[in-house]
Amino acid sequence: MQCSWKAVILLALASIAIQYTAIRTLTSKPFQLCPVPSPQNCGLLGGPETESPIEGRAGCDDYPYFSFNASRKTHIMVLATTRSGSSFVGQLLNQHADIFYLFEPLYHVQTTLIPRLSHSRNAADRRVMLGASRDLLRSLYGCDLYFLESYIKPAPANHTTDKLFRRGASRALCSQPVCDAFGPTDAIVEEGDCVKKCAALNITLAADACREKRHVAIKVVRVPEIGDLRALVEDPRLNIKVIQLVRDPRGILSSRIETFRDTYRLWRIWRATGRRPYNLDLSQLTVVCEDFLGSVSTGLSHPHWLKGKYMLVRYEDLSRNPLLKTMEIYDFLGLPMDKSVEEWIQANTRGSTELSAKHKYGTVRDSAANAESWRLKLSYDMVEYTQATCQKVLHQLGYKAVKSTEELKNMSLSLVQDKTFVPFS
Ligand SMILES: *[C@@H]1O[C@H](CO)[C@@H](O)[C@H](O)[C@H]1NC(C)=O
Ligand SMILES: *[C@@H]1O[C@H](CO)[C@@H](O)[C@H](O)[C@H]1NC(C)=O
Ligand SMILES: *[C@@H]1O[C@H](CO)[C@@H](O)[C@H](O)[C@H]1NC(C)=O
Ligand SMILES: *[C@@H]1O[C@H](CO)[C@@H](O)[C@H](O)[C@H]1NC(C)=O
Repeated sequence: MQCSWKAVILLALASIAIQYTAIRTLTSKPFQLCPVPSPQNCGLLGGPETESPIEGRAGCDDYPYFSFNASRKTHIMVLATTRSGSSFVGQLLNQHADIFYLFEPLYHVQTTLIPRLSHSRNAADRRVMLGASRDLLRSLYGCDLYFLESYIKPAPANHTTDKLFRRGASRALCSQPVCDAFGPTDAIVEEGDCVKKCAALNITLAADACREKRHVAIKVVRVPEIGDLRALVEDPRLNIKVIQLVRDPRGILSSRIETFRDTYRLWRIWRATGRRPYNLDLSQLTVVCEDFLGSVSTGLSHPHWLKGKYMLVRYEDLSRNPLLKTMEIYDFLGLPMDKSVEEWIQANTRGSTELSAKHKYGTVRDSAANAESWRLKLSYDMVEYTQATCQKVLHQLGYKAVKSTEELKNMSLSLVQDKTFVPFS
C-alpha cells in the first residue's frame, strides 16, 4: 500500500487537532528511526498510537529524503531569537559556496498551526509547534523541500510558489539554476531584487540545488531551547551542529521595540511616558530570558548528546570581532571558511551608511558600534526591570547590570564582560 502525497497533505490538514494530543505524547520521547515501510506506518491509518501524520510519511515514501549520502553533509542550525543578530550569523553561512541556507522555514509552520500568535505562551501550542518543527527540519536537512509545501499558503501548485518566506535571504534560491535573473558575476544579490526579478520558486529546482551543496544551514528563531532539539541532534541520520546565538536581553528588548512596532506598542508607551502600562505583556520579555536560561544551562552543562555539536556565541562578541568569531564558528563546524564569507564581512561590518540604508533587516546597522546602543534608547526603569527579571541569565552570559542612569548612559563603560565559551568537544 502506498500513501500518496496528496493523501498525506489531506491527512495533515485534517489532523491538526489530533496532533495536539499526538504530539503531546510524542514530544516527551525521542523520535524513532525511520520505520520499515509497511501499511501500518502510513499516517493516521496506523491507528491511535500513530505519531503525527507528517512523521508517518517517512515510512510511506521509500525514504525519499534519506537517499543522499548523509555522512557527507553537515546540518548546521543557527538557534536564535528575533532581534538577536541571527540574520547576521545566517549571512555568514549563506555566503559560503558549499552551504545551502534557509532563512527561518518555521515561519510557515507557525502561521499554519498557530496563526494568531507571534510568541506562543501556551504550552500546548508550543508542543504542537515543536513536533511539527522537528519533522520539517529533519526533512529540510535532507533537502526534501516538498515537505514545506503543506505549510505554505496558498498551497503551491506544480511545486511552484512565490510565497516562500524570505526567499531572497538565501543565496542559492536567488542564483542559477534556481533563478536565472542573475549571473555568477552578480556577487551579492539584494534580497528585494531577488524577490522582484526571480520567477516564482520552482521547489523541485530548489531541492536539487540543496542536494548539490555539501552542507545545509537553517536559521530558526521559533525553537525555544536547545533541549527541544535533542531528538534531532541524536538522530543518527543527521549530522547536526548547533550554533546558539544569544544577545543581551536588554538589547533584544530595545531592538524589538523599534522593529515590531505594533506588538511592542505598550513598551514604547512605557518608554515615552516613563510609566509602565498596567496591561503590558511581560511575557514578551520573560520568555526570552527563560528560554536563554534553559538553553544555555543545558548547553554549558555539557550533556553527552551535545558533545561536539554545540557552540554558544554572544552577538556582542561577534559584533566586536566579526572576522575572528566567524573563523571560530567555521572551526567548530569543521569547514574551511571561504573567501566570499570574508568579503561579505568586510563589506558589511564597516557601517557603510549607504548599505545600511538598503538593508531593512540591518545586518549592517547591527554591527559593532551598535551592539550596546540600546543603552541610549531604553529608560533606566525599563533596564532595571529587565535586570530584575533576567538576573540569572545576565550573570550567566556575562552581561553586567547597571545601578544608575549615569552608569547606563556612560558608554565608556562596557556592560559586556569578557567571557569565553569554549565549544564542548
Ligand atoms: C558517503 O560518503 C563518504 C565520504 O564521501 C564515503 O566514504 C561513503 O562511502 C559514502 N557512503 C555511501 C553509502 O555512499
Ligand atoms: C500545473 O501543471 C499542469 C500540467 O502541466 C497544468 O495543466 C496546470 O495548469 C498547472 N497548474 C498551475 C496552477 O500552474
Ligand atoms: C521545475 O523544474 C523541474 C526540473 O527542472 C521541471 O521539470 C519542472 O517542469 C519545473 N516546474 C515548473 C512548474 O516549471
Ligand atoms: C564613565 O565611566 C568612566 C569609567 O568608569 C569614568 O572614568 C567616568 O568618570 C564616567 N563618566 C561619567 C560622566 O560618569
